[in-house]
Amino acid sequence: MSVNPAYGIASREAYEAAVARLREASSAYYNAEALLMGDAEWDALAAEAAAAELAHPEWLSPDSPTGKVAGGVGVAGTIRHEPPMLSLDNVYDHAELVAWVTRVERALGHPVTAGYTVEPKLDGLAVAARYVDGRLDRLATRGDGSTGEDVTHAVSRIGGLPAQLAEPVTVEVRGEVFFRESDFESANEGRVASGKPAFAAPRSAAAGCLRAETLNHDALLSFAAYSVMGIDAPTHMEAMSRMRMLGITAADVTACTDTTAVLTRIAEIGTGRALLGYGVDGAVVKANAAADRDTVGSGSRAPRWAIAYKGPEFPADVAVSRLVEVLWQVGRTGVITPRGRIEPVTVGGVEIAYATLHNVGDLTRKGFMLGDKVTIRRAGEVIPRIEAPLVDQRTGEETPIQEPAVCPRCGGDLDTTEARWRCRRGRACGLRESIRYGVSRDCLDIEGMGDALVTQLVDRGLVADLADIFTLTREQLLGLDRMGGTSVDKLLDQIERAKSQPLSRVFCALGVLQTGRSMSRRLARHFTRMDALVAATVADLEAVDGIGPTRAAVIAEELVELAPVIVKLQTAGVNLVEPVTAASASAATNDEDGATPDNRLPFTGLTVVVSGTVPGLSRNEANEAVERLGGSSSGSVSKKTNLLIAGDGAGSKVAKAESLGVRVMSADEFAALLADI
Ligand code: IVH
Repeated sequence: MSVNPAYGIASREAYEAAVARLREASSAYYNAEALLMGDAEWDALAAEAAAAELAHPEWLSPDSPTGKVAGGVGVAGTIRHEPPMLSLDNVYDHAELVAWVTRVERALGHPVTAGYTVEPKLDGLAVAARYVDGRLDRLATRGDGSTGEDVTHAVSRIGGLPAQLAEPVTVEVRGEVFFRESDFESANEGRVASGKPAFAAPRSAAAGCLRAETLNHDALLSFAAYSVMGIDAPTHMEAMSRMRMLGITAADVTACTDTTAVLTRIAEIGTGRALLGYGVDGAVVKANAAADRDTVGSGSRAPRWAIAYKGPEFPADVAVSRLVEVLWQVGRTGVITPRGRIEPVTVGGVEIAYATLHNVGDLTRKGFMLGDKVTIRRAGEVIPRIEAPLVDQRTGEETPIQEPAVCPRCGGDLDTTEARWRCRRGRACGLRESIRYGVSRDCLDIEGMGDALVTQLVDRGLVADLADIFTLTREQLLGLDRMGGTSVDKLLDQIERAKSQPLSRVFCALGVLQTGRSMSRRLARHFTRMDALVAATVADLEAVDGIGPTRAAVIAEELVELAPVIVKLQTAGVNLVEPVTAASASAATNDEDGATPDNRLPFTGLTVVVSGTVPGLSRNEANEAVERLGGSSSGSVSKKTNLLIAGDGAGSKVAKAESLGVRVMSADEFAALLADI
């Protein structure tokens, strides 16, 4: 185990305090629904305790979690596990993994006979499911490893663990029960709505929902098998594929012939982890051949033929910190969002000091207080968020959070009727910001309309919405500070030019909630005219790629609110049509009736990500160019990406694209394609 000597435990008292903290944290972690410290913190402290025990065997406490399944605190139950359900030893870097491989092969006396397997280490709870003649007979938690609790009642809540198998076999399947991200969110919503404190993290939520006899909210858990007894399979790969044939979801196992292949697969799991939609806190490496496993055997806590790899590819994505302050931000459209300042903590490998608290409704429902210990979670690639307060760890020093009585920006009245509070002035509250956004380079692109000018226009009441820009007169502008005849003429010229911007940019300038630059382009291409967009029903909007029912409803509502501004834009002579270029016409043909490859554009059918700087183009312009070439632009590299355009400073996206086998194109090559159309 890696131990940072800087934190070494120097005295018996310090050792005993560490053991007490570890025990308390494990007990909360395994048995209750709380989280006292993040996994990384627990692992580091346990490593220190183990190092202290090695250096001072006389200190060894019977309570020490080291060397025990579930840190020695798992709840024993009525179901005996035979053989016991073991834990796994951990390694924390490549060198330690290589050393483990050497140990395995030394114990075998020869290289492994069928290579190794690598699979994600799922962040949930171990369970054992016994099937008799193909029917699920009982389900038990791991408990203390020797005995566990009967949780058969929960089977109907677990996807991937059927009540009936495809064949009448008698087997014991062991694996992990966990929450998928989306299922966790909805279970937590239901739980809070039923008046209970929010779950701190998916793992503790899975524990709670598995053990509860009855639940008064929905909770869909998932299962993946990682071992099976009662099936005669010569390798782990074959055992897992048998599981799948029986109808059980099995771990995503990959066979690797050597250490290099193992490390490559580990890196892939690490990179893909953010996009999986469920928690993975490492990779598990196993000897593939059953015969090799039998030869190397197991210790009392863990098998010698398997190891959990928790290296730098897997930074912990849940941490515990303290909520210090709540800051109230007012968005462009007057929506108020609470943001928490926390004691700095590392989540997902980055130190963070601020995280979002969703909305006011969520804040009050979950009952946060200032000074609360809170869980911070980074789900996928999104911004870290403050998940829940650890209510049972309150000291009495916590103080209530003062919600704003008036809008923190304009001092106006608040609309508090929904979970998401809003300034009653809506867009007018953030008028200066809205106008600045609307005239920016990626929207109407009106040069010369900087902060100072917009402030004057708003303060003097000359502009009350975006459309007012187009009816500004020479006299009005001449009356402003620092605006001489030449600058006024230049500005009027710019405004006139902006009237012929394509619909996508005019729509974007309106700042419709839940639409940004690329969604505006998609909407404009789909509907081609503003009147069609305004007349669109929620169902019509849902037909656009990337728009689900919630977003469609928000957009429809926004368009009703913005209708007067849209009418003013039209009256002022602003273009409200998306020009149909040869490119978009051809892309549309391809979409609809699968045109022949001859009239296809270079990027037709491709999902393209632009990263780094493309000379002469802003990010938005580069994305527009991707779409002119027939592709659809996207912000992040995933399995769905077909092409990455790498400009200067493209950074980690290149490595990610390469690891996923995504083609990478240089900015020069991209520019050459653009020159051709
Ligand atoms: S194999 C005897 N494979 O991690 C070997 N365990 O920290 C049993 N876990 O107790 C474990 N994903 O609950 C194995 N793909 C995987 C796993 C996995 C998650 C859990 C399991 C185990 C714990 C050890």
